[in-house]
Amino acid sequence: MLTPLILSGGSGTRLWPLSRRNLPKQFLALTGQSTLFQQTVERTRGLTAVGTPIVVASEDHRFLAAEQLLEAGVSTPTILLEPCARNTAPAIALGALRALEADRNAIILVLPADHLIGDTGQFEEAVVQALPMAEKGWLVTFGIRPDRPETGFGYIRRAKALPEGGFQVERFVEKPDLATAEAYLADGGYDWNSGMFLFRAARYLEELELHAPGMLVAVRAAYASARHDLDFIRIDAQLFAAVPDNSIDYAVMEKTHRAAVLPVSCGWSDIGSWSALWMTGAKDADGNVREGDTLAVDSRNCLLRSHDRHLIASVGVDDLIVVSTPDATLVAHRDAVQDVKKVVDQLKASG
Ligand code: GDD
Ligand code: MG
Repeated sequence: MLTPLILSGGSGTRLWPLSRRNLPKQFLALTGQSTLFQQTVERTRGLTAVGTPIVVASEDHRFLAAEQLLEAGVSTPTILLEPCARNTAPAIALGALRALEADRNAIILVLPADHLIGDTGQFEEAVVQALPMAEKGWLVTFGIRPDRPETGFGYIRRAKALPEGGFQVERFVEKPDLATAEAYLADGGYDWNSGMFLFRAARYLEELELHAPGMLVAVRAAYASARHDLDFIRIDAQLFAAVPDNSIDYAVMEKTHRAAVLPVSCGWSDIGSWSALWMTGAKDADGNVREGDTLAVDSRNCLLRSHDRHLIASVGVDDLIVVSTPDATLVAHRDAVQDVKKVVDQLKASG
């Protein structure tokens, strides 16, 4: 059985002031009627022989997740709740353990809850193509053709083509520095890691045992003492706090010899920052993306979003991000948006 595993435990600080601790970006309707999380759930509907999704989220967002799943028509979800964030490698391990309880041959499709996919048909097609690869024991990544030296992504170097489809991975490099990313882009043999994965649940745990054995032992202990409570599976706080913090990319993908890549072209984007929303948004004749009460005079390539009844008017500016909410307004250069999280850090530090 194919089980979608939806990761929605991120905090989305780079989309402040809209994304907040109590309402992080995946639970916001940033690009349409439904939230990014709901769009992720809905995208799994068209897959063949697919089971009910497993959601791994923060304990703090349990009601948001449950409510939004219900709205999206999922009436019997499995929601695993993390008492603290330990990044994606442990979150996926929890989901894999759960999936294995239902089916020891479970194949899991890991999906971040905060991505946009423009072409659902191509996405479904990619999963169909990746299934035989996963069945053969590969940890399948979905590769995206890079068009800029982005340092926020993982880079995958293709090796030889596999008979079951896709390519073996020669090297996986998570978040390289700018010079390295530029070299990879010039090389032409690298894809971005989309952050979506397909593999046998048991295979993933075997790889964790090889490359992060301490993490696997700690996650198993935390999962074994989980408490079932209505729709939720609540992970023990003390035991989960003892789990090492790491992402699947560093803990497994950079180390494994069993990685494969399937290049996909499905209009993918990671809504990681305000500039990503500018990039994917519908632009006016001057390249501005505007939402809510806004007015742009002699302004180019700006993102203006008003989320209150406040009018934002820009005059004679280029490449500016302005986002206003009832209690906070962000003004940033489009090239500096990765640093928006520093605002959140400073706000946290000042209590
Ligand atoms: N449950 C849970 N718990 N989910 C988490 C946690 C956690 O502790 N931390 C992050 N997530 C979720 C996020 O909400 C997001 O949906 C997904 O896992 C990926 O985490 P990010 O923090 O957004 O990762 P990233 O964007 O920096 O990097 C990953 O994605 C890139 C593509 O978007 C990597 O896989 C890169 O290699 C990849 O290129
Ligand atoms: Mg991300």
